[in-house]
Amino acid sequence: MKNILIFDTTLRDGEQSPGCSMNLHEKLKMAAQLDALGVDVIEAGFAISSPGDFAAVKAIAGVVKNAGVASLSRALKKDIDAAWAAIKDAKKPRIHIFLATSDLHIEYKLKSTREKVLAQAKDAVAYARTLCGDVEFSAEDSFRSDRPFLYEVLAAVIAAGAATVNTPDTVGYALPQEFGEFVAGIQKNVRGIERVVHSVHCHNDLGLAVANSLAAVQNGAAQVECTVNGIGERAGNASLEEIVMALHTRKGYFDAGFSLDTTQIFKTSKLLTALTGVRVQPHKAIVGENAFAHEAGIHQHGVLQKRETYEIMTPESIGLTKNKMVLGKHSGKHALKDRLTDLGFSVTDEELGDIFEKFKVLADRQKNVSDRDIEALAQKKAVSVPESFKLVRFVTNVGNTITTTAAVTLLNERGREKECVTSSPYGPIDAAYKAINKLVGGDGFELDDFLIDAVTGGTDAQAKVTAKIRSGERVYNGHGVSLDIVDAAIRAYISAINNMIYDKEAARGAKNEKS
Ligand code: KIV
Ligand code: ZN
Repeated sequence: MKNILIFDTTLRDGEQSPGCSMNLHEKLKMAAQLDALGVDVIEAGFAISSPGDFAAVKAIAGVVKNAGVASLSRALKKDIDAAWAAIKDAKKPRIHIFLATSDLHIEYKLKSTREKVLAQAKDAVAYARTLCGDVEFSAEDSFRSDRPFLYEVLAAVIAAGAATVNTPDTVGYALPQEFGEFVAGIQKNVRGIERVVHSVHCHNDLGLAVANSLAAVQNGAAQVECTVNGIGERAGNASLEEIVMALHTRKGYFDAGFSLDTTQIFKTSKLLTALTGVRVQPHKAIVGENAFAHEAGIHQHGVLQKRETYEIMTPESIGLTKNKMVLGKHSGKHALKDRLTDLGFSVTDEELGDIFEKFKVLADRQKNVSDRDIEALAQKKAVSVPESFKLVRFVTNVGNTITTTAAVTLLNERGREKECVTSSPYGPIDAAYKAINKLVGGDGFELDDFLIDAVTGGTDAQAKVTAKIRSGERVYNGHGVSLDIVDAAIRAYISAINNMIYDKEAARGAKNEKS
């Protein structure tokens, strides 16, 4: 049985997609969970792209215990140097070089020629090998590349020392059978391919990224590149959980295995949602809320008689356990901790104490506290960073015949309280956000997205707010949970601002360290 390597690019290709950006603290949490999941390689970022990315790749390289840690790099010396500087302390560092090989990219994007691309690819890999023993080369837009030219480039980078060659379907254009034949063609025609790992990296523009990756496995690919929840550029990347569970459920068919722990899948998916605020659709395969729910009576009856009638894999196999005990105001910390674990959250004692306090407040107001409520409390905790600004209090004055006003008081790091009063014709949240902008000196960022979610439905439900703020190219998420919508919105905004400050400070630190 062959072993398929799982190369996770959630923190690079996934993180660079709109709405999915994470700060350093969030990336470290995600990297630790990916390591616990047991992926073979974590692509931690694109070190040269920004001081923040460099800092994140370096920090991840320093903490990952088992997986390889890769940094992306163009086929340029300065990129390769930055990638190496960021990953050199990793237990298993990998430099991942990419260069486009399709005529479309060569002519219009690179403004180069096939001859120059061939030489550049060879030289880049040879140079990277002088620094790092593990070099991967990706021929970007492989699937739309001229085949003999692609074969020539791949053979050249193998000769120059690449240990892995990746042939992406960068624009998600391929169909499964075609992609299988494409991989088989490479296996047959590229000199030296038997000595290296052949990897694929499929995008989901036609909804076929997973199908194409699996077709590749059937035709000789030994590594698949994928992301948790399928996040990524445009329509996303191939979804890790779908590929892994297809290989797991149809092991006999593929005659292939992997070394990842499937029972960590649910937890990993939940953590990513908590960190990015980007939820998966309820019917998403494997990790969607309905993936293991049986609504129709006939299905429920069948599953009760024999599970396999309507279930091809068990919820337990992805780490989902069904706990029927109802939690309320008499429940203790142990019960809460057990439920958190069932829901996929591992918390420290300190975090548990904090969540428990909020749980008690909620349980006093609601008879039973639902799993969704507990999840909302835990998600908020999962993403907290040092607070440069803390909410002390706020008052809003709202009515349909008056101008809305908001008075917000914040405490800054130096322990000073400051209040600001503002008004707005657009309601209490807008008024409060204006006040916060003034208190934090809010130039240089703007609200990018704002999502309100009633955790359980009903007017007495907890409100969960995700606020995303943009500063230049970067988007920072903040989360707030409260029984009051305005309170949740204010907390979400302050948490996004704290995330931005934390990230910018980390990036400044990395810049100073580099120079
Ligand atoms: O989609 C792609 O081709 C990529 C490469 C950089 C691997 O992300
Ligand atoms: Zn990609």
